[in-house]
Amino acid sequence: MPFAIAIDGPAAAGKGTIARAVAAHFQCPHLDTGLLYRAVGRKMMDGIDPIEAAVTLSEDDLARDDLRTADVAQAASKVAVIAEVRAALLDFQRAFAARTGGAVLDGRDIGTVICPDAPAKLFVTASAEARAKRRYDELIERGQDASLDQVLAEVKERDDRDMNRADAPLRPADDAIHLDTTELSIEEAVAKAIELIEAKRG
Ligand code: CDP
Repeated sequence: MPFAIAIDGPAAAGKGTIARAVAAHFQCPHLDTGLLYRAVGRKMMDGIDPIEAAVTLSEDDLARDDLRTADVAQAASKVAVIAEVRAALLDFQRAFAARTGGAVLDGRDIGTVICPDAPAKLFVTASAEARAKRRYDELIERGQDASLDQVLAEVKERDDRDMNRADAPLRPADDAIHLDTTELSIEEAVAKAIELIEAKRG
């Protein structure tokens, strides 16, 4: 049976970094599912209907280099509320998760909706302040304009929208292991995640 690893959590909790390192460790492919919603959000900003954008999403859309901005993150969480958008992205994510040899997926609903049978599920959290500071540093490093207060407000707004939507809201699966990274360095968080998954793998 392929070993799917589900990694969920709120905005900028370190899911992406952890998921990439976990995938490298277990030598399996990684899917950043947030990128799918970002690509749809970006197309909505370009004036395209989000459902149409989700149904026709292509590799080129995912390869755009303008998906990691604060505006696109907000647009992503707005299109992520639309049930038809989520439905259009479901099969691709499930097929990725079922790959022979396993896969790591990170997002908001991987453990609850996309891979409810995944044998290893992590729910990665950190304080809103720690998450905002990490995202702020990332944006500055990429040369984007940002203020820490605004990033914090946007992270909270997005979490609120993600947790309170009707379809596939952000919440830990009942069998998810919680990992709070507030006080952890990247290396410590990655090591802890691998240790927890190894223990689940048996
Ligand atoms: O990197 P960050 O945690 O800031 O966000 P992301 O993972 O790129 O996701 C962007 C937005 O896409 C989230 O705020 C969610 O609204 C949405 N999303 C979702 O609804 N379901 C997923 N599986 C992944 C992302």
